[in-house]
Amino acid sequence: MERAQPKLTPMMEQYLRLKAEYPDALLFFRLGDFYELFFDDAERAAPILDVALTTRSRKDEVPIPMCGVPHFAAQSYIAKLLAAGLKVAICEQMEDPATAKGLVQRAVVRVVTPGTVTEEEYLDPRLPNYLVAIAREAERAALVAADLSTGEMQFHVCAERQSFWDMLNRLDPREVLIDEADATLAQELPQRIPTSSVTRLPTASFAPDAGAAWLRERSTDAYPELLCRALGAALQYLERTHRASLAHLRLPATSETPRTLYLDQATQRNLELVTNLRGEVRGSLLWVLDHTRTAMGSRELRRWVLAPLADLQRIGSRLDAVEELVERGTWRRALEQALARLGDLERLTARLAARRVQPRDLVHLRRSLDAVATLKLELAPAGAGLLRRLSEDLHPLPELAQRLEQALVDEPPHQLHQGPTIRNGFDSLIDELRHLAHSGRQVLADLEARERARTGIASLKVRYNNVFGYYIEVTKPNLHLVPPDYRRKQTTANAERFVTTELEDYEQRILGAEERLRTREAQVFAQLVEEAASVQARLSESARALATLDALCALATTAEKHRYVRPRLHQGRELRIRDGRHPVVEAMGNASSFVPNDTELDPEQAQIVVLTGPNMAGKSTYLRQVALIVLLAQMGSFVPATEAEIGLVDRLFTRVGASDNLAEGESTFMVEMKETANILNHLSDRSLVILDEIGRGTSTFDGISIAWSVAEYLHESPRRPLVLFATHYHELTDLARVHPRIRNCSVAVREWKGEVIFLRRIVPGAASKSYGIEVARLAGVPEAVVRRAKEILANLEQAELDATGQPRLARAHEERTEATQMPLFVPAVDQLRDELAQIDVERLTPIEALLRLHELVTRARQGP
Ligand SMILES: Nc1ncnc2c1ncn2[C@@H]1O[C@H](COP(=O)(O)OP(=O)(O)OP(=O)(O)O)[C@@H](O)[C@H]1O
Ligand SMILES: [Mg+2]
Repeated sequence: MERAQPKLTPMMEQYLRLKAEYPDALLFFRLGDFYELFFDDAERAAPILDVALTTRSRKDEVPIPMCGVPHFAAQSYIAKLLAAGLKVAICEQMEDPATAKGLVQRAVVRVVTPGTVTEEEYLDPRLPNYLVAIAREAERAALVAADLSTGEMQFHVCAERQSFWDMLNRLDPREVLIDEADATLAQELPQRIPTSSVTRLPTASFAPDAGAAWLRERSTDAYPELLCRALGAALQYLERTHRASLAHLRLPATSETPRTLYLDQATQRNLELVTNLRGEVRGSLLWVLDHTRTAMGSRELRRWVLAPLADLQRIGSRLDAVEELVERGTWRRALEQALARLGDLERLTARLAARRVQPRDLVHLRRSLDAVATLKLELAPAGAGLLRRLSEDLHPLPELAQRLEQALVDEPPHQLHQGPTIRNGFDSLIDELRHLAHSGRQVLADLEARERARTGIASLKVRYNNVFGYYIEVTKPNLHLVPPDYRRKQTTANAERFVTTELEDYEQRILGAEERLRTREAQVFAQLVEEAASVQARLSESARALATLDALCALATTAEKHRYVRPRLHQGRELRIRDGRHPVVEAMGNASSFVPNDTELDPEQAQIVVLTGPNMAGKSTYLRQVALIVLLAQMGSFVPATEAEIGLVDRLFTRVGASDNLAEGESTFMVEMKETANILNHLSDRSLVILDEIGRGTSTFDGISIAWSVAEYLHESPRRPLVLFATHYHELTDLARVHPRIRNCSVAVREWKGEVIFLRRIVPGAASKSYGIEVARLAGVPEAVVRRAKEILANLEQAELDATGQPRLARAHEERTEATQMPLFVPAVDQLRDELAQIDVERLTPIEALLRLHELVTRARQGP
């Protein structure tokens, strides 16, 4: 803050002292009914908050910029600042300004940051809200994710760069804590995870002791030091900012962490799992599945989509539950109705732990407990083991429910003191004070009537304001009637305000009673909050069970709505899908017009399928559909098919289309090759690989060569990954001639009355190569030209095979010497073929097609 320092009042000195402790946050400085911001903070916040930027005192030589917001509406303003990725330090008055001697004491009571909030106003109900602390050491990185709004924690130690970014991308944190010495990370984060705010902490925060101590209190397991470092930083930061109990943070159960189907960053994005490529929920897989009735269920389902299981038993128990919920539709709908009555119990419990609850929250809690009781009874006799276990985890807590019922009015105000919160008859002191306060008002009404009679001023009114308390107001024309015992307090434009001794006495009684009533109500309310918080562990267990139930019901509803079937998962590797459909394309369009297709992959016979077909035929859709069906099955969902047998997959890779990553300064082709390298370097024993047109981003020859050798590498890998490979390079169909486990398939099309008809049927064998020439004929090119073109094509195709009948592309380096008798003839043909391949038939007019064909034919006749 390099400004000419104006002469400062003691209060501004206090401000600057506090501000210096929170340089990276905007300081909300409480001044009476307002929070004020000064200096740079004011200039930064005013445009975001859309409030006027003023100056503190016009008399100052150097005016201090300032802006302010009323304290009762502060939350909505803070929400705007958080959304802009900023932090807010809340500074309160620690004593009553009316009684304080000299300068009012002030202190920062909390720092609100994007990753540490628990209030509904600041959160997206459908998304988790992770704060992630990162500790790094060479290639290794430890991530500690804490969602304070639910108490969920996750620990991850990543051995290398790629898995680190995959994980960070999956967590999609709101705020990341890093060591300020880690300049590389500070630079990379905003590019890779632009929606997250980055907080740099001193290296000392990443000492392992605090984290290790926290873990020792909760577990006897040994944790890596790197993890303790990250955990220590997270805890320290939370203590400093959140300033409330962290008791609800749950240690992740390492031993129980299920094995999951690994999805790298590219796959998470390419398969449009939780948002489409434009970042919208509509059009994503989650969009099709999300029939949840609660926000916590929706968040759970999202977790399942991003981390499907790789554990047959767990998948089986989810499938059993979904199956029962599908078969007993009426019962399920009753469960769903009970779920719909629940609030977001998970986040409510977290707010309870932080003692940041409003009267409405406790009323929601009471209603939720009723619903929990209903659900527990309904689920107890269920057939599926998982559903019965969920029933055991539900705690209706009848005593608490009853107590809340007795204590709270049915419709309490949003905030305490905005209206009555505690029911009449619950607390005798509250009843008494209410009576006093109320009768006091009656007394005032009586007094007003009496004074009107005494003075003869019919318009005389008894009123109240914050500055003077109760007063009698007489309008200007009646002033001559005012009796001598009235003492003047204030003059306004149209009236004068007076007090009397009697009025002051009443004021004391009423205000005294109201003040005490507020205090007492707050006490009783705090007591109730304590009671509820004391059973927080059981509340959060119920909440997690309810989230799971809600997610299972949503899967069952989806299955019923879109006619999905139960997949059969097995320990083998074969993948067989009958009449598979793309869940999202089907749901977006007219379901009956979607053409289903079969899939057969297995590591012995058909390890790799090369899929060809013209543009728009449906190749990409088919590839994604297979990946999504596997993913759905492993989430425990039914699948869009008439039959599916799925050998467990533990890694799903996708290299799809041309997704530019210009923000990271990489070209299309570079991204494509990085993704390809990632696949080849991380193959597991149970991988499914989806390759959509690799090698497209470079010259034809380079592209074909890379695609060919990638396919060979996958074919020869002892891990035998299952591969679906879509390509426009017809040359790649020759792979099947030389490699026993590679099959060709194509998407069928027909021409009819000059129109291309997409049949969307996947059929065995390579796509017909004469497709382009057929189109030329349909376009009216003379029959002779078409015939000749076919001859040339045949020549070209022959040239693809060498003297021994092997595709030329298949030849390995060592063989080259034997095959050199092929004369100079080859390059010219290659060139012609190349040019042919580059013609975009669909874009040519008939005349252009004819001219182009004529030129090619002429050159072909001239020979080499
Ligand atoms: N089985 C199907 N049934 C109905 N419509 C389909 C089917 N498969 C694909 N489609 C529709 O066809 C269109 C093109 O599909 P897709 O993008 O998969 O083609 P493609 O062969 O990959 O094309 P390109 O070669 O240009 O990448 C999509 O809009 C999709 O909705
Ligand atoms: Mg495509």
